[in-house]
Amino acid sequence: MFESLQAAKADAILGLIAEHRNDPRDNKIDLGVGVYRTPEGHTPVLDVVKKAEQILVDTQVSKTYIGTAGAADFNASMQALIFGDEAPHDRLTTIQAPGGSGSLRVAASLILRAAPDTTVWASEPTWANHIPLLGGAGLRLKSYPYYDTDRHVIRIDEMLSALRKAPAGDIVLLHACCHNPSGLDPSEDEWAAITDVVVERGLVPFIDMAYQGFAKDLEADAFAVRHMVARVPEMIVSSSCSKNFGLYRDRVGTLSLLSADEENRGIVDSQVNNVVRTIYSVPPDHGAAVVSLILNNDALRSAWLLELAEMRDRIQSMRSLLADKLSEKAPDHDFSHLRRAAGMFCFLGISAEQVAELKKDYGVYMVDSSRINVAGITEDNVSYLAEAIAATLPA
Ligand code: LMR
Repeated sequence: MFESLQAAKADAILGLIAEHRNDPRDNKIDLGVGVYRTPEGHTPVLDVVKKAEQILVDTQVSKTYIGTAGAADFNASMQALIFGDEAPHDRLTTIQAPGGSGSLRVAASLILRAAPDTTVWASEPTWANHIPLLGGAGLRLKSYPYYDTDRHVIRIDEMLSALRKAPAGDIVLLHACCHNPSGLDPSEDEWAAITDVVVERGLVPFIDMAYQGFAKDLEADAFAVRHMVARVPEMIVSSSCSKNFGLYRDRVGTLSLLSADEENRGIVDSQVNNVVRTIYSVPPDHGAAVVSLILNNDALRSAWLLELAEMRDRIQSMRSLLADKLSEKAPDHDFSHLRRAAGMFCFLGISAEQVAELKKDYGVYMVDSSRINVAGITEDNVSYLAEAIAATLPA
């Protein structure tokens, strides 16, 4: 049977981890997969996570199954973190999911049960795994214009007019903040305009929130979610704790579903839990238990907020530093768009050939689209990086 298979292509993002690891050069730089890095280049376990893990080791009395929805305290705390106090919590249901990807996958199965003929509209470009993940689950996908590769701005008018043509009931996949891969987020006014179109057209927003706390702060980064949840009858939100709690490999996330009324909320809740049972049965507990401890303990929560701010500030300062160095090393080229981006990512705006040259000649790794993970930049490597980039640019 397996003889009929052809080897799958390496993943566009995860494949870079091994390529970079196997590169023997000392001065290699990894700007590939979106993980936070310290100035020393490590992706640490947050101190607050270590503390919460110790509490778990000391107090956890059982590892018995926790149920398809995961832990109720985690789900309630995450729902509050994402939606704030004002949201219609009586119409919301939130389940624990194995990371943002697990949440997206469960959402896809639920959408297929509820509206098998619907189309999901994704930004062009979007996270490299959105299309294979949602498409692979069986959803039909189309794209709306989002990033202007020449001017490095959001194509907001074209985006709105594409959405105005989408049939009622279609789903619009949006990035809550730190748009992956472009780093460009709509302004509050633009979010309001997007919401107006969603409401006018009867579309269903499906918001992916993988970076809450990485752009401005936890509240500001939830603006799109909170603005929309107050205005639409139905909505889907996938969230991830991979980045903001640094719990990447522990697979922690949530899936939240907004129903038109409380009665439907109960039905949706039963269906989504049934979906979970048919895919992975129950979610992993450890990371979610850590998050719940942190969110429900004042001292741990304050410590987490400090560590989150530290990660956010370092990323932002490395972004400015690279922009400064590029204006020094490549004065004839405009990289000012780097400063407009938020979160871990932005496009350098160079070709796939130049990306390949950076990898081959300089050991600088990034996604083919020229998306860089700014967290891979350090005070020590930024000059070399800017020189390498400058060397690949046309004279
Ligand atoms: C990324 O975009 O690099 C991260 O979200 C990691 C991943 O799974 O692709």
